[in-house]
Amino acid sequence: MTEQQTIDISKVGGIVDKWERNPHFLIEMLQDTQEEYRYLPKEVLKELSNQIQTPLTQIFHIATFFKGLSLEPRGEHLIQVCMGTACHVEGAPKIIDQFQRELDVKVGHTTKDFKYSLEAVRCLGCCGLAAVVTVGSELHGQITASKVSKLLKKYS
Ligand code: FES
Repeated sequence: MTEQQTIDISKVGGIVDKWERNPHFLIEMLQDTQEEYRYLPKEVLKELSNQIQTPLTQIFHIATFFKGLSLEPRGEHLIQVCMGTACHVEGAPKIIDQFQRELDVKVGHTTKDFKYSLEAVRCLGCCGLAAVVTVGSELHGQITASKVSKLLKKYS
């Protein structure tokens, strides 16, 4: 998906209906929106604002406050490298460097083909498996820099 492509805003209605058009569920609506579009496109947020009668500024405030929400297009595969203490000790900085080299993308960004987004995150809560990397909803433990290439092949 590129930003130049037209965004289909027709799915907003379904998301809003699911939460009974109740602005109290704005965070849930934004999470569903992100799941649908993989990020929060501006056109979609404007439509959401109209449909639930909530100022766009308030929606942007929430969208920028929560780390899990993204206003930038994300890749098909979201790679998160844990940078918590245990993973750091087990080589997380080298792992992240390896991903950056292999994907030719900096942390916090998405590859040009919108296939991968690379993020550094805090402890994922499974330090016994350090170093930990998630790709989408899949968790991979005991990762080393030398395993990065093989891991990426699974998602190519
Ligand atoms: S430090 Fe990485 S999972 Fe806890």
